[in-house]
Amino acid sequence: MTIGIVIVAAGRGERAGSPEEGPKQYRRIGGEAVIRHTLRQFLTWQRSGPIVVVIHPDDGALFADAVLDLPGANALITTSGGETRQQSVFAGLRALSKTSATHVMIHDAARPFVDHALLERIAEAFDAGEDALLPAMAVTDTLKRAGVDGVVHETVPRAALYAAQTPQSFSLSAIRAAHEKAAALRRDDFTDDASIAEWAGLTVRLIEGSPDNVKLTIKRDLAMADEKLSAAPQLPDVRTGNGYDVHQLVPGDGVTLCGVFIPHDQKLSGHSDADVALHALTDALLATCGAGDIGDHFPPSDMQWKGAASRIFLAHAADIVRQHGGIITNADISLVAEVPRIAPHREAMRRNLSEVLGISLDRCSVKATTNEKIGFIGRKEGIAAIATATVVYGVLKP
Ligand code: CTP
Ligand code: MG
Repeated sequence: MTIGIVIVAAGRGERAGSPEEGPKQYRRIGGEAVIRHTLRQFLTWQRSGPIVVVIHPDDGALFADAVLDLPGANALITTSGGETRQQSVFAGLRALSKTSATHVMIHDAARPFVDHALLERIAEAFDAGEDALLPAMAVTDTLKRAGVDGVVHETVPRAALYAAQTPQSFSLSAIRAAHEKAAALRRDDFTDDASIAEWAGLTVRLIEGSPDNVKLTIKRDLAMADEKLSAAPQLPDVRTGNGYDVHQLVPGDGVTLCGVFIPHDQKLSGHSDADVALHALTDALLATCGAGDIGDHFPPSDMQWKGAASRIFLAHAADIVRQHGGIITNADISLVAEVPRIAPHREAMRRNLSEVLGISLDRCSVKATTNEKIGFIGRKEGIAAIATATVVYGVLKP
């Protein structure tokens, strides 16, 4: 199953005060275009397949500006929309049909507060075999029917009434066929895709929507969205990774720990220089950006790493972190070794970390403890290291 996404963004936003201020999907809330918020939600969702954005032929420059430097934006597929939302969706479905997508979520660009929890609920329903899903909220206000004269005629029971949201989600072939049938019969008065699906005879099932997933429709909606985002605290995206490693002690002439050679009547056995401390820290760094572990990057089966200085591994992990936009703020290693004594070498070890990672000395820590003569470490059969890395990856977006 591949879940494609169609984002419709070709409307003119007349109720929100266009054309004076431009289409609402390109207006800024919390300092960024509405559509940038919307796209980020889908671009950062793990199960998103191909994403088609349906834009107005006049909006090419606005769109390019709105997605400038947005991670993943270069993979977006754009296509031109039509006069009505229905036509725009149909254009998006045609474009999506050229990809590997088997299912589709059709979403309004003007709903920037869609969240991953809702997308997950839909994906789980797809996994369970559903093929037409409508996120909706039970209506909570009491409903009245009134005439144009403003006189109330009746109170409408709200028990079975729901307010529809997007992304309305379908098997791609089924919703495309429904749109084709509607176009062929010149039925162009549908305001959402679930109504086309219902009309075409599909069984549309409700799924719990999200109270935050509102459509920005009038000017006031945009002002309120801006207030909400501006009030949200800008949390730093701090991530912590841990790493653990053990190497065996065998007869030899010394051990290398944190890049420092310490003469001793044993050595650590291993494929590289067996620097157990740097191996643990390498794993800790990789863990802050989901980049696997040291074995993925430097397989023991690869002869080029035989006897290699482990600082190469650490420097490589630090590069990967930086490529992901990370700033290393702390590196901490605890060595568990009965022998040799680490204390005289701690400062040299910290200096090595500082140099390889390119961070100040006060952000590098090396500690050591014995294992109180207990177990394999206590019997001087091996040395273990535990490491923690702290990395800041910019600011968490609400
Ligand atoms: N939409 C579209 N093509 C159209 C009309 C609407 O792609 N011809 C999109 C809008 O850009 C929006 C979504 O459909 O993301 C929901 O439509 P709506 O809220 O009605 O937006 P607008 O049509 O732009 O606003 P208005 O009706 O106030 O003009
Ligand atoms: Mg409209």
